[in-house]
Amino acid sequence: MIQLVRGFRDILPDEVAVWQHIEQVARDRFECFGFSEIRTPVIEQTALFQRSIGENTDIVEKEMYTFPGSRETLLTLRPEATASVVRAYIQHKLYAKDPVQKLYSIGPMFRKERPQKGRYRQFYQINAEVFGIESPYMDAHLIFMLVRFFEALDIPGLRVHLNSLGCPECRKAYREALQAAFIGKMDLLCSDCVRRMDKNPLRLLDCKVPGCREVVSDAPSMSDFLCADCSVHFQTVRAGLDAMGVSFEVDPRLVRGLDYYTRTAFEIQTDALGAQSAVAGGGRYDGLVAQLGGPSMPAVGFAIGMDRLVELVLARHPAGVRPPELFFAAMGAAAWEWSFQWANLLSEQGIRVEIDFSERSLKALMRRADRLGAKFVLIVGERELAENTASLRHMETKEQTAVPVDNLVAAVKETIRASDS
Ligand code: HAM
Repeated sequence: MIQLVRGFRDILPDEVAVWQHIEQVARDRFECFGFSEIRTPVIEQTALFQRSIGENTDIVEKEMYTFPGSRETLLTLRPEATASVVRAYIQHKLYAKDPVQKLYSIGPMFRKERPQKGRYRQFYQINAEVFGIESPYMDAHLIFMLVRFFEALDIPGLRVHLNSLGCPECRKAYREALQAAFIGKMDLLCSDCVRRMDKNPLRLLDCKVPGCREVVSDAPSMSDFLCADCSVHFQTVRAGLDAMGVSFEVDPRLVRGLDYYTRTAFEIQTDALGAQSAVAGGGRYDGLVAQLGGPSMPAVGFAIGMDRLVELVLARHPAGVRPPELFFAAMGAAAWEWSFQWANLLSEQGIRVEIDFSERSLKALMRRADRLGAKFVLIVGERELAENTASLRHMETKEQTAVPVDNLVAAVKETIRASDS
């Protein structure tokens, strides 16, 4: 039998209900905060990711699914959404209509990482990006929206980690300070960090290799290198969060795995997921729109890892498909034919209906209705039909009422509605 590809997975019907619920909460919430949905393709030119995420990142160096397209252009399955949304913002000149755009998207991303619990090669993100707003209050506002979103999903114990990565100017001095601090300790670093020392020494700060962690434990902190503007920006983000009652920890080691960030960087972390502790991450990327050929335009955004979030939701609310509201238990050919027609009609009316296509005894039918968790069973036999009635049984209370078959839709709807209230 041909099996799934390693690192990829099926999401089975039991779990899909949770995915749909999360997507619905995201859509409702984000739209209340003024966001509109954008959908971009899963394939883009490789150069888009190289130029935005950065050549010296894990993602670009070793995690992209890249293949040749036409005319020698290399194509890549998107490892994240920000680069694509920025490309769309520039390509369709969305800024000309209004520089301020708030866009969200939901969909699969692809990274060739070593698969493990909470880390997949195809994973799903809910992504939000804001263009055209430089104010640090926007950063705080976005983090507030994110925290409230997790609360709406009843996820406790999340921590907001916050840092400032400065601007290209002040970061230059910080990079030099890091290089100076690490240069004498090269033999203690892993081969990846040795390679990155030159071009991207910030990456060393979040290397997970124990030897590297030891080396960076007393590394200089970006906060000591922030220029006056970056410093005020960072202070204002923190003040904005305080004002909105969002608690956070300043985490000087938080550097994020993508190179486009400027100033604010943040992650939402949890201890409930084992090694993969980040359930969302984001930050400001004021240089990226211009870097990809658009106008000079500030931007800030985040992405939520849906796979990890589903796990958190499932830990509190077990999964399950939505059970039928009405199960038809028909006895005899005439009753079955009658039920078949009415089952179709009631489904069309928006009621979750199930009908059994095999010939079984009433006892067997009731057992199946019970197993499916049906709320009501409509029992129909030749005698009932002749009397122009059917019996509607509430599976939990066992209460049974006679409903007129010539007014079935209204009667069933009314009974289901009454039982819901
Ligand atoms: P990221 O931190 O690379 O940021 O990913 C965001 C979230 O996606 C992570 O916190 C994690 O929950 C989830 N995630 C990442 N990789 C995997 C994986 N292999 N398996 C399961 N979940 C995963 C970004 O992608 C940025 N584009 C976020 C952003 C938007 N920054 C500004 N705007």
